[in-house]
Amino acid sequence: MPKIIHTVAEWRALRAGFRASRQAVGFVPTMGALHPGHGSLLVRAKQDCPVVLASVFVNPTQFDDKWDYENYPRMLDTDCDLMDRSGVDYVLAPSAAEMYPNGTRYLVGETQFSRELCGAHRPGHFDGVLTVVMKLLQIADAERAYFGEKDQQQLQLIKGMCTAFFLPTEIVPCPTIREADGLAMSSRNARLSPAERALAPTFNRVLRSAPDATQARAQLEAAGFVVDYVEDREGIRYGAVRLGKTRLIDNVAS
Ligand code: PAF
Repeated sequence: MPKIIHTVAEWRALRAGFRASRQAVGFVPTMGALHPGHGSLLVRAKQDCPVVLASVFVNPTQFDDKWDYENYPRMLDTDCDLMDRSGVDYVLAPSAAEMYPNGTRYLVGETQFSRELCGAHRPGHFDGVLTVVMKLLQIADAERAYFGEKDQQQLQLIKGMCTAFFLPTEIVPCPTIREADGLAMSSRNARLSPAERALAPTFNRVLRSAPDATQARAQLEAAGFVVDYVEDREGIRYGAVRLGKTRLIDNVAS
């Protein structure tokens, strides 16, 4: 089983040892409720690096919806089983007080792309993501950090932040892992009712098959989705929809 640590100081002491013995660290930040999509990031990290650190922290500052934050699945024991099978060595599971020692006085932000697509529908979301990822990258001090392409906008913003602030960690993008019916794996899928789960794969099917974003939106609405957006940008079609209280995002080549 991976060793669970709760404080920055504990990881810093371990990290110093790995630096002394020249062992590279791979880092996989998560909010827990792990699924095979996370598993693929963990396995990739272990292939690349002798030491793998994963974090489990449901970050309050990236939730624009209190209900979503409070109902986000939390299951550290089950998560540790998948971490173990994937070769994770250490799990950092900090408290909110450990991660935000001075509350939210200091935030990291981006002023353009973070306001578009998901950012236009979830005010402040990407400020919360970039802030916590900046903290986590500083704490982990890893050679490489692994992020899924399902969260394509998040991935691009994180890469941009690392360039803007000269962060040394290499950001490694990993392909989206899908259910057999095409639905992108997500911790939120567990909240879908049976009827919503049956409809959910239509989201990816329409993103792939519709000739343009306008027609994709119309087809999704006709199928019963509430559409936040579908947009084509620089060879990628981005979409976000709602089924009941559950929000799904996905992206495909356009
Ligand atoms: O993608 C996620 O799970 C989260 O946004 C992240 C990167 C772990 C930051 O909380």
